[in-house]
Amino acid sequence: MADRVRIFDTTLRDGEQSPGNTMNTPEKLRVARQLEALGVDIIEAGFPIASEGDFDAVRQIAETIKESEIAGLARANNEDIDRAWEAIKAARMPRIHTFISTSDIHLKHQFRKSRDEVLEIAVNAVKRAKQYTTNVEFSAMDATRSDRDYLCRMFTEVIDAGAVTVNVPDTVGYAVPEEFGKLINYIVTNVPNISQAVISVHCHNDLGLAVANSIAAIRNGARQVECTINGIGERAGNASLEEIAMILRTRKDVFAVDTRINTEKIHFTSKLITAITGVSVQPNKAIVGANAFAHESGIHQDGLLKAKLTYEIMTPESVGIPKSSLVLGKHSGRHAFRERIAEMGYTLGDKEINLAFKRFKALSDVKKDVYNEDIEMIIMDEIYKVPERYKLVYLNVSCGNTTVPTATVKLDIDGAVVQDVGVGVGPVDATYKVIKRLAKTNSKLLKFSVNSITRDMDAQGEVFVKLEENGYTVIGKGADTDIIVASANAYVNALNKLEYMKQNKSEDV
Ligand code: KIV
Ligand code: ZN
Repeated sequence: MADRVRIFDTTLRDGEQSPGNTMNTPEKLRVARQLEALGVDIIEAGFPIASEGDFDAVRQIAETIKESEIAGLARANNEDIDRAWEAIKAARMPRIHTFISTSDIHLKHQFRKSRDEVLEIAVNAVKRAKQYTTNVEFSAMDATRSDRDYLCRMFTEVIDAGAVTVNVPDTVGYAVPEEFGKLINYIVTNVPNISQAVISVHCHNDLGLAVANSIAAIRNGARQVECTINGIGERAGNASLEEIAMILRTRKDVFAVDTRINTEKIHFTSKLITAITGVSVQPNKAIVGANAFAHESGIHQDGLLKAKLTYEIMTPESVGIPKSSLVLGKHSGRHAFRERIAEMGYTLGDKEINLAFKRFKALSDVKKDVYNEDIEMIIMDEIYKVPERYKLVYLNVSCGNTTVPTATVKLDIDGAVVQDVGVGVGPVDATYKVIKRLAKTNSKLLKFSVNSITRDMDAQGEVFVKLEENGYTVIGKGADTDIIVASANAYVNALNKLEYMKQNKSEDV
């Protein structure tokens, strides 16, 4: 059997803490369930001491997830460790992940502590965590800019204190693959008790090398990789889970290691993160970008028609992109729709299928060809529905090159229909101004983006908006063949989410 690399997913911690990727508690729970289904070994659910909201999300994830270990992050002090344990203790497989910086740069400028002092703090932290669980991970922050012998001394002592995983973060994304591989090899040879721990790596992507560095580390003995879906994370992000999993699978001949990842669930997991955060991946992103499996050039297409092997190193199906690209249309029935959903790898209940089918029918009335991407969008919308305090009942917009953009909007708020009219610098601005007035919301619009879901002229426009109010941040999503309607739906969806968060006191961090 191939040697196994453990996948430690930090989408909900390092990913979520990066700008634009905030998630609320129900969203984090949904992601955690998907990561479990994906086959992630360890889910880093959050940083419990950071806020009540983070604590609560980690606690709920710990109570829900059974097949993956649940890690809570803690700085190397008693308060953080105790709090992390409180949050994760209900998990079937809890893990405390404690960390402290080891580079002289951080010690001198940030912590103003000596190497010996930091060593003692780290050892005490691991001992504290060990009182709660045998599953303790220690991270040496900024390891790649740390003195190698000090790093080895640190790892030797924390392993003696009980750490079963030692993590080597390239916190600032400074390492290059050959050098990073050598560092791992140095640790393997110079930490005498290293056989009692798993070596982990955690690479940031500032120089675009996070995945390459992680792979170099695996070559040299690392057996845990910390990564995120779509590579989201601080600054330029973390190593991307999907790339690592597919490199190890596709080039098993080179690495002779594998992961427990169900690669067929990669596509949906990536879409889920985009739907929740509103942050799309670039079209040419490896594995999950819209063009990752699209062959445009005539020579390539010719080769592919003759034999897939000519230009295809992995199949789209292996990452969960549905095989059938046959479009559905207004004559497609419930049966075909249900089959397509199953083929796309989604498991929906009857109620969700019925709602999705209704939306599909409405769409196929106005759009000739309904593609998998359209269906995906409908499903995401149905899955993420929150109770609707606000409903868009009517929207009429007039605009043009000689007209003052004017919007008339009717909203159903708590069952009562209200109406108003207003102008703006453009049709979306006019619509948003009226909705804002009708909903009497104090929320601030932080972001607005429009994408086309498919390539055709009657394509649906997909709109994401980000709203903020009293520290709560939400992403609203709307799609329609009319982008002004899509924009209005996205705004109303965000208002409903804000309402839901306020009612459920779900806190943002
Ligand atoms: O980048 C980093 O060093 C981290 C640690 C907390 C592991 O995220
Ligand atoms: Zn990090």
